[in-house]
Amino acid sequence: MAQAAVNHIDRLLREMSLAEKLGQLTMTAAGSTVTGPTLAGDSTDAIRAGTVGNLLNLTGAAAVRDMQRLAVEESRLGVPLLIGFDVIHGYRTLFPIPLAEAAAFDPDLWLLTAREAAKEAAADGLAMTFAPMLDVARDPRWGRSAEGPGEDPYVGARIAEAKVRGFQGGDLADGSSLAACAKHYCAYGAVAAGRDYASVDISDRTLREVYLPPFTAAVASGVASVMPAFTDLAGIPMTANAALLKGWLRRRLGFNGVILSDYNAVAELINHGIAADLAQAAALALQAGVDIDMMAGAYRHGLPIALDRGWVSSADIDESVRRVLTLKWKLGLFDDPYRRGSVAESAEALATRRRFARGVAARSLVMLKNDRDVLPVPQPIRLAVIGPLGDSAADMRGSWWCAAAPEGPVTVVAGLRAAMSEARVAFEAGIDIEGADAGGGTARALDLCAQTDAIVLCLGEAATLSGEAASRAHPLLLGRQRQFAETIFDRARVLRKPVIVILFSGRPLIVPWLIERADAVLAAWFLGSEAGNALADVITGRVSPGGRTPVSWARSVGQIPLFFGARPGGRPANPNDTYTSKYLDVANDPLFPFGHGLTYGRFRLSNLQVSRESVTENDTVAVRVDVTNEGNRAAEETVFLFIHDKLASVARPLLELKGFGKIRLEPGQSGAVTLPLAAKDLRFLGLNLEPVFEPGEVEILVGPCADRSRLLAATLHLAPARA
Ligand code: BGC
Repeated sequence: MAQAAVNHIDRLLREMSLAEKLGQLTMTAAGSTVTGPTLAGDSTDAIRAGTVGNLLNLTGAAAVRDMQRLAVEESRLGVPLLIGFDVIHGYRTLFPIPLAEAAAFDPDLWLLTAREAAKEAAADGLAMTFAPMLDVARDPRWGRSAEGPGEDPYVGARIAEAKVRGFQGGDLADGSSLAACAKHYCAYGAVAAGRDYASVDISDRTLREVYLPPFTAAVASGVASVMPAFTDLAGIPMTANAALLKGWLRRRLGFNGVILSDYNAVAELINHGIAADLAQAAALALQAGVDIDMMAGAYRHGLPIALDRGWVSSADIDESVRRVLTLKWKLGLFDDPYRRGSVAESAEALATRRRFARGVAARSLVMLKNDRDVLPVPQPIRLAVIGPLGDSAADMRGSWWCAAAPEGPVTVVAGLRAAMSEARVAFEAGIDIEGADAGGGTARALDLCAQTDAIVLCLGEAATLSGEAASRAHPLLLGRQRQFAETIFDRARVLRKPVIVILFSGRPLIVPWLIERADAVLAAWFLGSEAGNALADVITGRVSPGGRTPVSWARSVGQIPLFFGARPGGRPANPNDTYTSKYLDVANDPLFPFGHGLTYGRFRLSNLQVSRESVTENDTVAVRVDVTNEGNRAAEETVFLFIHDKLASVARPLLELKGFGKIRLEPGQSGAVTLPLAAKDLRFLGLNLEPVFEPGEVEILVGPCADRSRLLAATLHLAPARA
């Protein structure tokens, strides 16, 4: 860092009182009312006094500026505030929820959405986002599956890199950059039975192989901050987990940015049962490496006591203050605290972003089924949009809607009407999302079925049914929705009308009966501001759907957790042998495997080639496959590269993802996808949990999804290093 910064921070540290230092280690929620800015549980005098140095949950350039002015112009030392918000999938313009965006399998797109979100949030004066959320999630009961990368650590790592670069831009000090925050470190996705905030207890191997890689990638990409998870890992809450924070994150990965606690997590060390009071909780968190206490007030009120009791030292406190001030410096806040939020974005910039969001949404939705090519619909056609999610703008936002107004997003009905003509698109909700049929809605929906050519049935979760504190023991369609849907299917069958289901959810719902009965199914997740337009683009055939599911879809709740990276076990399932690993009442395989997703093309993969037969640890091979579009519409195919190490000192997963790529082809056109594979990425954690490169053979498997029967295979020899 520049000498000027070091000198400035040294000077501040010399001048600061203990209370002012602890202010820099404190983050408090802020808001504004008609009478001016407010703080949660505090007065804005705390900013003037320098005892609150960081804020969250504030929107609006004017409100942000008011708060910043209090700190810069009315506090003794004028240290600027760091103001952050959960910019998870957009700020005012919402992109698809993270799980949906993962389905795009496109690192450039992942980066661009983060860049656009950063610009929009920074234009409101914000300097930090609590994103990306990098928790691998293999249990759809967990509501926070919606916020993350899905089931695979490789995907999580690629998303981590793209998002950190997108949010932070080339230079943190730029007026359009936000400090990113990789969260929730770590293994939060492994909460017992998918219940939010529950305990986590996994092996060190699973921790390192599955849950840590996205964080390693975030740190390697220069992420500015990291947030420990609320949860404990085998009895040690992450907020006090010195081994994983100071040990692994700081020393092993070399992370020297800011560690920011989750909301009230420092005080919750008391609930975990490892701290007797706020002072002990604060001491444990600081000792573990947590720099900023979000919302617990534990550092402000507890650390002075902990200092008196000798549990922490002034040097410990100074070290954290230095990190926070360094981040503020890097963000350019000392140079010009009003750099962000001083210029409003033009209407044109906003319109361009909306158009971009529309394309992203179309690339994120996953066409799960399309029997007899029901989609795209022929034109002209009359459509009956039916169901509680057909015209619900607020729900299109998904969880963490940030500063997006509820009426902002485009609904399915609005999108289809804009694309087709008002007269041809009729709508009837029929029932509420969770409620009863209010006033004959089902009867009206059934009437509508008779007056249409095709039915677009919009079902699923409300936006609030996934996200934080939204775990569901039964990740199914809510009871009345099923009854309603069955009634519509029955009528449609009699009338011989196709039913296209649009399924909204923050997780892979377990709905085999629905998939069975529908003619076509679009998994729409929550697609954000342009949801309805993007769905209309796909339904009318203007755009071919391109998303591939980043999570396996289970047939039954009893299969959870279900993911493609399982190990073979000693008794792999064999239908002819009772004593093998299977259920008596449900198949082992998913209803839809990871990577499944149809397009309007029809692709054939052939001629798998690996550029060399044998590699040593420092080599790289090119894995190439020919792709032909045998369908009659242009579309983009996604190709996945997996490996299987069949014989190793530690049992390896049946499939491990090592790459993916895309190719767009016209009807009848052929091309090739070439994916690099570095031999060092074929290392795995050996018996002692350190990476090893074991000579032998590895299967190279390439195909459209994680269904083993659809993968082309080749063999690669791993040779010991040449002497
Ligand atoms: C969530 C975090 C979030 C924080 C601030 C917490 O409840 O777990 O993901 O960043 O609130 O809003």
